[in-house]
Amino acid sequence: MPNVLEESNPKEEGCGVGNEEIEGIIEVLREGRRREKGQSPFYRRLAAAAEEAGRPDDVERLNELLADEQHHLSRLTARLMELGDRPPDLKPVKGPTNLDGWEAEARAREAGEVAFYKGALARQLDGQTRQILQEILHSERQHREQLRGKWMSA
Ligand SMILES: [Fe+2]
Ligand SMILES: [Fe+2]
Repeated sequence: MPNVLEESNPKEEGCGVGNEEIEGIIEVLREGRRREKGQSPFYRRLAAAAEEAGRPDDVERLNELLADEQHHLSRLTARLMELGDRPPDLKPVKGPTNLDGWEAEARAREAGEVAFYKGALARQLDGQTRQILQEILHSERQHREQLRGKWMSA
């Protein structure tokens, strides 16, 4: 485990969160990162398939979703680095592309993301990590409900 307290700013990180909790926070951020690294290629493959199939509405929606998932990944990565972690390189997850069934599959996946971030927010977290996870949760809820993207504020 990385020694996070040495590199982090005690003023920023001191909000009642000890070393042990920070290890838990890093674990949950890393797990979120792995999940996001699965979501991006899922939408990227579908967007390419929709492009090929001449379905511009699907292309637009899938690219919006892809952009959000990439943004989630970068927010999590940035937070891990702020906490002194060196997040590992992750290979994009491969899988089949089912353009005609994409909405049902995406909705189920997004429901999984909502459940993950809700669970993560039930843990003990520092304020800044909590804020990031709340924003991502809000975005994942919109994904699940609308299957569209651009729901990240920053
Ligand atoms: Fe996401
Ligand atoms: Fe999502």
